[in-house]
Amino acid sequence: MTQLFSPFRLKDITLKNRIAVAPMCQYQAHDGLSNDWHQVHYTSLARGGAGLVVVEATAVSPEGRITPRCLGLWNEEQAAGLANIASAIKGAGAVAGIQIAHAGRKASANIPWEGDDHIEGEQGWQTLSPSAVAFGANLGKVPTAMTIDDIQRVKADFVAAAKRALDAGFEWLELHFAHGYLAQSFFSTYANQRTDEYGGDAEGRGRFLIETVEAVRAVWPEHLPLTARFGVIEFDDKDEQTLSESIALVKQFKRAGLDMLNVSICFSTPTANIPWRPAFLAPIAERVRREVGFPVATSWGMDNPHHAEQAIQDQQMDLVMIGKAFLANPHWPYQAAQTLKVSRPSWVLPSSYAHWLERYSTVKVESSID
Ligand SMILES: Cc1cc2nc3c(=O)[nH]c(=O)nc-3n(C[C@H](O)[C@H](O)[C@H](O)COP(=O)(O)O)c2cc1C
Repeated sequence: MTQLFSPFRLKDITLKNRIAVAPMCQYQAHDGLSNDWHQVHYTSLARGGAGLVVVEATAVSPEGRITPRCLGLWNEEQAAGLANIASAIKGAGAVAGIQIAHAGRKASANIPWEGDDHIEGEQGWQTLSPSAVAFGANLGKVPTAMTIDDIQRVKADFVAAAKRALDAGFEWLELHFAHGYLAQSFFSTYANQRTDEYGGDAEGRGRFLIETVEAVRAVWPEHLPLTARFGVIEFDDKDEQTLSESIALVKQFKRAGLDMLNVSICFSTPTANIPWRPAFLAPIAERVRREVGFPVATSWGMDNPHHAEQAIQDQQMDLVMIGKAFLANPHWPYQAAQTLKVSRPSWVLPSSYAHWLERYSTVKVESSID
């Protein structure tokens, strides 16, 4: 048995393997509502053999959307659509997860293939951030500095979205604390220049995130996994300080009831120098796992099956999150099983496919991923 295809249990949820579909915005929603696109997309990813499918960044409020085409979870109509998606994911044999998010000063942007920059004019909206400091580069709009009331309201929006996600049937919740969005901005010295209790030293900058974990944990059942995606490294000249402050904060997340971390990049400044290469975040994930002492996942170029298998074997991470490779090939797990010479790779698939692949051994799907 490969380690990649071994089950993973977190709280009362058991994933059939260590492969998760990373959250990936589809930019296909209107008014935050899902539609046939999302239904087909997420069902096919679940059917392809992943243990966990995490639905894309889903905004907790209208102003928290990255773009006007992002999903939302601030009303019951949105929740009803997402309930169909959660049900379809489970029906296809995966665990249904969802990432809830507030985009902060990176909100009000055009979709990637229409510029990825801030929207000019009436289609855009005023963004929120800890301080009135723009991200820069293509996202130059100056956000409104949040008042204490704004902070309380956004925390309440996370709590309300978490309750709706639960009622919609999701069993795995990921808080989006990464990628320069609102929560990451609170912890970032680039974005947070507050002088009140939500700014200043690492304790102050971490307060919004800790309070959000605590508030969501209070409504998200103890027996279901509560996770967060958090950028622990910027790839700038302050990496050691960012990493050690971030790891200290993740220890507090753990005490506040978080069950696992999806380790990622901060993306709080356009001037970072990210060393793109396969599996480049795996050693960082391993450090977080070892120093915090709880499970971690990561993505970013983990889509070579041998790298993925090695990362699990070496205990660098407990789950691999696969992104773009799943867009190219929803049956990535099946082909990974072939590449890793799992004795009956068709077992990775739901039985309606596996039955036929086992029965007619002349049917061979050649792996194109190794
Ligand atoms: C189209 C697209 C949309 C994405 N949307 C999200 C998102 O909603 N939330 C998130 O945390 N990361 C998002 N990401 C980042 C992915 O989750 C993942 O970390 C990234 O693609 C790197 O993994 P990969 O090398 O396997 O593609 C997105 C990436 C892509 C390509």
